[in-house]
Amino acid sequence: MKIAMVGSGYVGLVSGACFADFGHDVVCIDKDPAKIEKLREGVMPIYEPGLEGLVESNVNAGRLSFTTDLAEGIKGASAIFIAVGTPSRRGDGHADLSFVHAVAREVGENLANDAVVVTKSTVPVGTGDEVERILQDSGTSHRFSVVSNPEFLREGAAIGDFKRPDRIVIGSEDDFGREVMREVYRPLFLNESPILFVSRRSSELIKYAANAFLATKITFINEMADLCEKVGADVQDVSRGIGMDNRIGPKFLHAGPGYGGSCFPKDTLALLKTAEDYESPVRIVEAVVNVNDSRKRAMGRKVIEALGGQDAARGKKVALLGLTFKPNTDDMRDSPAIAVAQTLADAGVKIAAYDPEGMEQARPLLPEVEMCEDPYTAIKGADAIAIVTEWNVFRALDLQRIKELANAPVLVDLRNIYKPEDVRAAGFTYASIGRG
Ligand code: UDX
Repeated sequence: MKIAMVGSGYVGLVSGACFADFGHDVVCIDKDPAKIEKLREGVMPIYEPGLEGLVESNVNAGRLSFTTDLAEGIKGASAIFIAVGTPSRRGDGHADLSFVHAVAREVGENLANDAVVVTKSTVPVGTGDEVERILQDSGTSHRFSVVSNPEFLREGAAIGDFKRPDRIVIGSEDDFGREVMREVYRPLFLNESPILFVSRRSSELIKYAANAFLATKITFINEMADLCEKVGADVQDVSRGIGMDNRIGPKFLHAGPGYGGSCFPKDTLALLKTAEDYESPVRIVEAVVNVNDSRKRAMGRKVIEALGGQDAARGKKVALLGLTFKPNTDDMRDSPAIAVAQTLADAGVKIAAYDPEGMEQARPLLPEVEMCEDPYTAIKGADAIAIVTEWNVFRALDLQRIKELANAPVLVDLRNIYKPEDVRAAGFTYASIGRG
């Protein structure tokens, strides 16, 4: 089967490479000639473990190619995926659908055969209907069906998530759509991955509901962590204790500096806008968004406290370890590190930082931060060290070396990757999350 993937960003590229690996003939299309040129040379536009090898082997096998020419790319494709960005629209938080609509128009104008048009991008409820209208208005004479097939990929684990999904959700209104999608995902059916056929609107909402629920779970445990600090309890024990209840489940109960990334912040906001439009408020998600926003700056204040408070902090130096919103990615979007660094800078604190993959992306966002080539260079002369992202390289820092390099042995662990007793035994003042 031939598949066209319009949009070769994170989702499009990972999905395209994985579909090719299933044995399909895949063309990834993107408007950006520089990106396509690089992909043809084997250079990935993003950092994702395993992606480069997957792309290379499928290109070599003749199953995966790249083009800027949409008309040519979709020719003969039975499934045309739309995987372009849906950023938050400036000003109102609605998902910006202009890229999705533009692709739908171009697909309609160039359709050369019957095809299923699949929205993979995260799009608000009703977008499938609009895509269908746009295709109809294009006057195409070919049969088409518009399907919703949201992705649930985690950055850093996207290829595994794609190949071994918890479930595949397909929202379709007709048999043509369902049949083609069954063929697209046949290798996963054979793996017995559960597949859920629902209406298009249900499918669109599933994606938002899933992300909002996960964001709620994180925010819940983060507030429990604050309470643990006040009452003298340990949030990790509380997480374990509640997570062993099958109805709750152990995952997404790690207290930390607040969620970030390309999905949760944007999708929770977009869900609120949909709820507003339909006059059906989701107040719990409103609270989650507000709590998470204020938490990120509160983490900066936690570091300031470790420096001895606002007055003492002025002119001191902090080493930030980890900048990306989570490990194994170079993605800085809505990373808590941004708010932490800004809060520190506002308080007159000097900042040096190290991140294994994110410094290039971080530089323009954090011009006041000195980027260092390794953790120990950042730590040199620091009055406090703050672990913001739980990269593996920070799990076994040489504490003795840090004591010699730093101005003061103060460690603020915003990801709870150290045992308090170990760090304190090494002579550090240690602060973490929710371990009162
Ligand atoms: C998420 C969803 O998991 C994925 O299904 C969806 O398609 C896109 O959004 P991603 O943004 O890559 O994926 O990251 P994820 O691993 O889910 O983490 C999101 C944020 O939550 C990170 O900032 C992470 O640090 C934070 N988090 C996650 C916690 O603070 N605690 C947890 O227990 C889990």
